[in-house]
Amino acid sequence: MGSRLYGDLLELAATDVEDGGFAARILDGHGRDAPDSALALRFMGGVHRMVLEGRAPELARFYPSAGGKLGAGGDELWAAFATTLGRHADALRDLIDLRVQTNEVGRCAALIGGFLLVAQQTRRPLRILEIGAAAGLNLRWDRYRYEARGRTWGDSESLVRLCSFDGDIPALQTSAEVVDRRGCDLSPVDPTSEDGRITLHSYVWPDQLARIRHLRLALEVARRFPVPVDEEDAVAWLEQHSRTRREGMATIVFHSIVMQYLTPEDRTRARTLIEQAGARASPDAPFAWLRMEPSGDEAEVRLTLWPPGTDRLVARSGFHGDAVRWLA
Ligand SMILES: C[S@@+](CC[C@H](N)C(=O)[O-])C[C@H]1O[C@@H](n2cnc3c(N)ncnc32)[C@H](O)[C@@H]1O
Repeated sequence: MGSRLYGDLLELAATDVEDGGFAARILDGHGRDAPDSALALRFMGGVHRMVLEGRAPELARFYPSAGGKLGAGGDELWAAFATTLGRHADALRDLIDLRVQTNEVGRCAALIGGFLLVAQQTRRPLRILEIGAAAGLNLRWDRYRYEARGRTWGDSESLVRLCSFDGDIPALQTSAEVVDRRGCDLSPVDPTSEDGRITLHSYVWPDQLARIRHLRLALEVARRFPVPVDEEDAVAWLEQHSRTRREGMATIVFHSIVMQYLTPEDRTRARTLIEQAGARASPDAPFAWLRMEPSGDEAEVRLTLWPPGTDRLVARSGFHGDAVRWLA
């Protein structure tokens, strides 16, 4: 997925597991983890945290996110990686158990078309509710600038500029106003704290500098523009928030790359709650479900809008919101 550094390191780590090296010790017991639990990213995220906290200076030389040299590698890279694994094996075993907390603002480029379509079709201001929001960076999608082949949407002064459109583009001439926003996460990340910033950076791949730049700038937007993210499980939170109807507003429940982390029962329960909220919608209190979730080796963005409950595939993109193709 575009990271040469992680491609190389994961190949070498896989061999190290087979050879019974430090990687085997750290990953011991995880052989049957669900593929959707992103074990490789949890492992690499733990090591990246060590680098970002200044605890692995030998490896930092190779991590561009920490000022290291892009493209440096070979035997020296693996030696530094293995040294880090050996020195921090116990801490890494603990870090691997943490949930993946990537908060990818690039995904807003894949989602914006859905938000605008709801605004266009309902002609109502928007109330947006996000489950699995991490630090809530994507709850601020309307604070970013979108650019696609001469068309633009959003504040021309915005620090975050997203232009990863490829092929047809959404109706960027549509205006939309977000009047209410809120999210939840099992473990919300505070985008204004040092620990929160390290957590979010640790799940970005260290040689993907454009993503790191977006994250840094989105964190600045978050500092200036606070948004509540409740510490709560998605299903319990939906029980409470999807039931509240707001006349005069279009309510949108949305999520991106979250469903794989819920149990199958919770996924079903979440869907049922959303569909029940949809069934209660009316022309003056419309309800929409916008989601960007994996489908094969890319992500699909789907939108259901009540009334009447029309569901459609509106876009496809890469998992981080790259190469967005608008389909609706
Ligand atoms: C891969 S991150 C995606 C974050 C964000 N949606 C984005 O696209 O940038 C998945 C998020 O879902 C959260 N999560 C996992 N299971 C959850 C649950 N049962 N309820 C609420 N949040 C959950 C995680 O803590 C994590 O922040």
